[in-house]
Amino acid sequence: MLKPRKCIRELSPYHSPLSPDEIELRLDMNESTTGCSPRVLARIQALDAKKVALYPARERGELMVSRLLGRPPSQVLLTNGADEAIDLLCRAYIEPDDELLINTPAFPMYEIFARAAGAKVTKIPAGPDFSFPVDEVVAAITPRTRLIVITNPNNPTGAVTSDQDILKVCRAAPDSAVLVDEAYFEFYGQTMLAVVGTLQSLFITRTFSKAYGLAGMRLGVLIGASEHIGAIRRMISPFNVNGVAVAALEEALRDQKFVNDYVAQVRSTREWFREQIQELGFKSWPSHANFVLVSLGEQKDAILKQMRGWGIALRDRPDCEGCVRITIGKQQEMEVVVLAFKQALTNLAAADTETQEQPAP
Ligand SMILES: Cc1ncc(COP(=O)(O)O)c(C=O)c1O
Repeated sequence: MLKPRKCIRELSPYHSPLSPDEIELRLDMNESTTGCSPRVLARIQALDAKKVALYPARERGELMVSRLLGRPPSQVLLTNGADEAIDLLCRAYIEPDDELLINTPAFPMYEIFARAAGAKVTKIPAGPDFSFPVDEVVAAITPRTRLIVITNPNNPTGAVTSDQDILKVCRAAPDSAVLVDEAYFEFYGQTMLAVVGTLQSLFITRTFSKAYGLAGMRLGVLIGASEHIGAIRRMISPFNVNGVAVAALEEALRDQKFVNDYVAQVRSTREWFREQIQELGFKSWPSHANFVLVSLGEQKDAILKQMRGWGIALRDRPDCEGCVRITIGKQQEMEVVVLAFKQALTNLAAADTETQEQPAP
């Protein structure tokens, strides 16, 4: 009888992370609530039937991205979202029983793709206030470590890792790929791009899903030393990125003002929102991305439920006790969220008083 490979059978069943359609304000996926640039939309709408009938030219997009990054095209591979970049690295470098090393809490796809490639996963918990546990990560490296991922800024915490710590990990693991996942780079501004190629085993991935508002287009990029990117090109479909996405990307790259304005708005709304959340008595952590991690403690489930009822989706993070991750939307949207928090707390306090006033049975 036909059976999937053992490592696939052992994966947990798939659950779509998307919230249902009746949700009006989706703040659980770190998408842009502003949407993509109007110029991108116009470009997509202007595509004609003949263009759609053609296989896409990924190289055109790749050339533009390599110019934006200031890296030679041989170091740049356009991917179907950063997800595909992670998957490609796992498939290219991991043999069964090799090891993936991540620090937690972490973006879940690293573990899924690595396990599907047959890897064992070593998880190192973050340090105080979600700092990167550099010494523990270095100590956990073994001869079977083949991929180490450092998410910078981290999802779901928003915390960042210093260049020195990243370099320390690279030097301690010469036989392992080190992937710096810069999915939220635009909101942070610091990058390891300058050492790509010099450090042979260092890779960077970026995405156009966040700051560019193109999550539905599925566009990401993998950057690494030319010989490694060349090896990965041998295994990738030449048409992994579709033609609508390539056209959208070309226009998006030309409209950098749109991206800069959106990033500036998110950063300022994020700091305002953190102050509001603190005034309501909740702890949040400094974030360098388009989301914040907020501790709601024991009230988490009750608050999440009420928010859902009002059409607002926040991301539960059971891996950070009592916490939710909240995407930063437009200023007006986040004002609505703060009002909703206030209402939820009022409702909970009223329900509490009612329970206390119940006569003893
Ligand atoms: C840290 C991190 N890496 C990668 C991704 C995947 O991005 P993409 O939409 O480009 O596949 C995400 C998406 O949320 C993310 O948070």
